[in-house]
Amino acid sequence: MENSKNTGWERGSWKERKSLHQPVYSNSSAYEDILLKIGSYPPLVFIGEVENLKKQIADAGMGKRFILQGGDCAERFIDCSDRLIINKIKILLQMSVILAYGARKPVVRIGRIAGQYSKPRSSPTEIIDGKSVPTYRGDAVNMYGTADSEREPDPERLILAYFHSVATLNFIRAIISGGFADLHHPYNWNLHSIEKTREWPMYNETVERILDAINFMESFGGLNPESLGKVDFFISHEGLLLGYEEALTRKDSSTGKYYNLGSHMIWIGERTLFKGSSHVEYFRGISNPIGMKVSHRIDTGHLMDIISDLNPRNEEGRITLITRYGSEKVAGHLPGLIREIKKSGLKVTWSCDPMHGNIIQTVGNMKTRDFDDILKEVSLSFKIHRESGTHIGGVHFELTGEDVTECTGGALDLQDKDLHENYETYCDPRLNYTQSMEMAFLISGLLK
Ligand code: PEP
Ligand code: CO
Repeated sequence: MENSKNTGWERGSWKERKSLHQPVYSNSSAYEDILLKIGSYPPLVFIGEVENLKKQIADAGMGKRFILQGGDCAERFIDCSDRLIINKIKILLQMSVILAYGARKPVVRIGRIAGQYSKPRSSPTEIIDGKSVPTYRGDAVNMYGTADSEREPDPERLILAYFHSVATLNFIRAIISGGFADLHHPYNWNLHSIEKTREWPMYNETVERILDAINFMESFGGLNPESLGKVDFFISHEGLLLGYEEALTRKDSSTGKYYNLGSHMIWIGERTLFKGSSHVEYFRGISNPIGMKVSHRIDTGHLMDIISDLNPRNEEGRITLITRYGSEKVAGHLPGLIREIKKSGLKVTWSCDPMHGNIIQTVGNMKTRDFDDILKEVSLSFKIHRESGTHIGGVHFELTGEDVTECTGGALDLQDKDLHENYETYCDPRLNYTQSMEMAFLISGLLK
């Protein structure tokens, strides 16, 4: 047994459980060699950072911080460029300033970035231009092109995933330590599109107040460029490809604990969260803070058993329950879950993912989400937590810093017919820059 602290757990013990959404490689010895290679590469993150995030998530659970987690549904290798990475960090920093203003508490920023390269898919094949092809499973697995050869899982892509994650995180660390302050300073926000909305006077007041507060602090020398530039930023992705995750799992020689050092936080997706799942088994043995995506499909009793399994010492900050019911179902399911969790005494940090329960198909068969449905799930979740006497510790979004047209509604009132203009996502539709900023203003209002 590799780890006496987790009974029966070994790095590879997940292989004896039920593994869903794992690619099948035709050349399995090449796959095994690649995992060995990845296992010999340096980790992306440091244990101290992971433990620091866990403390901050614990604080969020107690209402002392607020978590903003966001980024692409599926990160793409072709987006690993300075401009696009800067824009992703910029939108998250700007939103975090607006949220911190409303919440009057520090915001924990966690990107869905530097490793979000694999996707669980509902079907092994999809129909493209009338032809059935194997499903795209994320850049770490296969290509987006639709030829059968492009859709064949290729283990070499795991190496590419590792190096794209490394390059992305390296650049994030560089821009942040190099004084990124100006990008989350409101002087540099690009709000032209939001200025057209009816609600602009309200948003503008928030911007003015933030500017005022910053100016006031700066006039006392309290917010010098160094302190403004010194922001924490954490990375996260869905821990889906267990061979890859196992290869990045390392033992802390001083404590004997295991950590996934490919990311600060990883989460178990809704489709792989069930009793007896390989994913639950793998996550049980690592000491990172972990997320669990919860929908109406999981039985509450099973969920509580899994939480106890994953967090036997009931450590605060270890578990973030990311609920994603959809705007229509949240009121029917969230209050009961909160009640049961409270009764059990299990320590969790609550977060709301208002994206994944609100996917709709347009008449033209494009996947979209409507701004109002997303907002409705967020505001209902806030209300339900308030009425239940629990803290909503954070929010989880699929968003981008670009002007894409993937979700409808929002300040520019995008319609179904506008979606084809700049629909870029390889998987789920994301809020664009304007929609994300507007969402931040609205949530900031809810946090007050
Ligand atoms: C995701 O976060 O991209 C995702 C697939 O979510 P869920 O597991 O909640 O469906
Ligand atoms: Co998604």
